[in-house]
Amino acid sequence: MDYKVEISALLSKLTGIESAEIHRLMEIPPQPEMGDYAFPCFTLSKQLRKSPVAIAVELASDPTLNVDYVDSVRAQGPYVNFFIDKGHLSKAVISEIILKGEQYAASDIGQGKTVIVEFSSPNIAKPFHVGHAFTTVLGHSLSRIYEKLGYNVVRVNHLGDYGTQFGKLITAYRLWGEESALEASPIDELLRIYVLFHENEKDDPELTQTARDNFRRLEAGNPEEKALWQRFRDLSLKAFAQVYNRMGVAFDSYKGESDYSDHIPSVISFLEEKDLLVDSEGARVVMLDEYKLPPCLVVKSDGTTIYASRDLAAAMYRHEHYNFHKNIYVVGLPQSLHFQQVFAVLDKAGLDYAKDCEHVGFGLVKFKNMKFSTREGNIVVLEDLLNESIAKTLEIIKTNAALRQSDMTEEEILEIANKVGIGSVIYTYLKSGRERDIVFSWEEMLDFDGDSAPYLIYTYARTRSILRKAIEQGIRSADAFDDSLSLLTTEEEFALVKLLSDLPEAIEKAASSNEPFMLSRQVSRIARAFNRFYNNSSILGGADDHLRSARLALCEAVCTAIKTGTYLLGIDVVERM
Ligand code: ARG
Repeated sequence: MDYKVEISALLSKLTGIESAEIHRLMEIPPQPEMGDYAFPCFTLSKQLRKSPVAIAVELASDPTLNVDYVDSVRAQGPYVNFFIDKGHLSKAVISEIILKGEQYAASDIGQGKTVIVEFSSPNIAKPFHVGHAFTTVLGHSLSRIYEKLGYNVVRVNHLGDYGTQFGKLITAYRLWGEESALEASPIDELLRIYVLFHENEKDDPELTQTARDNFRRLEAGNPEEKALWQRFRDLSLKAFAQVYNRMGVAFDSYKGESDYSDHIPSVISFLEEKDLLVDSEGARVVMLDEYKLPPCLVVKSDGTTIYASRDLAAAMYRHEHYNFHKNIYVVGLPQSLHFQQVFAVLDKAGLDYAKDCEHVGFGLVKFKNMKFSTREGNIVVLEDLLNESIAKTLEIIKTNAALRQSDMTEEEILEIANKVGIGSVIYTYLKSGRERDIVFSWEEMLDFDGDSAPYLIYTYARTRSILRKAIEQGIRSADAFDDSLSLLTTEEEFALVKLLSDLPEAIEKAASSNEPFMLSRQVSRIARAFNRFYNNSSILGGADDHLRSARLALCEAVCTAIKTGTYLLGIDVVERM
């Protein structure tokens, strides 16, 4: 039951204002002492030419508002504050969660609409570093969130598999490449020869020319260069697939930059038709003064195309193929000017879907007191971060008997460490607003008592164990129609119920602002409120049968909420710990 809707309807009857308008005006008070909903009387005051304070007093005492789900109505200054009956709310929320199960918080607002979520998009032949992990984690979570709301989601990996650097790589491979090393550890070998190329290029300018020639041959479709490039691409994708598998990530399309090279001529002729291309020192650009942006370079002076042209082609292709409702690019903030320019070119060309393209940016990744085996290029590779996180989690679980069951096999413990270790990394990416820089620190991410994945996973497992114990002891949990659910009215119980009832809204907000953090924050609040409830009430030991089964139902609802929330974040829970 949606109290806001119901109360709006009541007030509509009383005031003659449309229900939808009241619903829009209704506020959620900042403090619980001010009630659960508040109706501000300013609008009515203008219409009735009466002070809002007087109107509030009048409304609050009207018997129409005496309904079973409202505990009390109070006038407070210009506001009418509604206090929902605690027992009524508890029963309504928990029954809904029990009935819907994992469908709780699902919606159909996205029905019939396609959202493209472009994320991850690493560059082939380069290590998968922690920055690419940021887009991967964000995009993966956003995809699941949009799906939960009924959207048709297309996950696109816009691979960086094109550009002059492949001329360098081909040249370097012919000079220094080692076949066996490439087989054994492709990305390391490709990185090694790439770095070697740059070291040698300084003293040997001919190398630069050879690389250019090789790239030109690649672009022209010369079979030898093409075969090498294909090999680098395939091997890179295989390496990326390992990372994606570990994180449970999958894509619908790997259409990368190279796929668009054929589309570029038609993009250029389209821009020419619209009379948008301007010559600038031999290059061709689109002027964007009216958008207060620097010109967007489309064709370089040597006639080759660049990153922006490939993005223009990709946006046009996506519109044609998917007729998207939204086209989201989950890419770091440093590329924000690039996307502003690309979207401005689309807009200037009169393509109305420009407004449906959105850059979802994110901050930098930093480390506090963490050492990793440094690789060439001084980057932190995601695999190293994951492995270290799992190893550290394993150590914590092994040295702390309270974090595992005595009958657990080595294999089970390893499985738990794996999920918690990977979950910790994911949660760190999603626990604050995406535009903020994030700082990894082992103390924080593996704090089983902190704002962390281990805390959520542990809370879930603990709740599951209460439910298992109840079954063993033959204690029944209340079903959705059981009136005893309205017995859940202590401060801790009610706080928890309210947080559970706000989960759907948190998910919607996460989607509308492309901020999974709106959701991670809610899940974390639920877990914290559950632990407060757990510490203050005896769930299985209570004397009253009805209360006991109502509390068990609350535990079940908490499990559903945490599982739903963590799934949407891309984190796996465990049943036992
Ligand atoms: N491959 C690029 C990089 O690693 C990111 C691609 C972003 N997506 C795009 N459509 N331009 O920096």
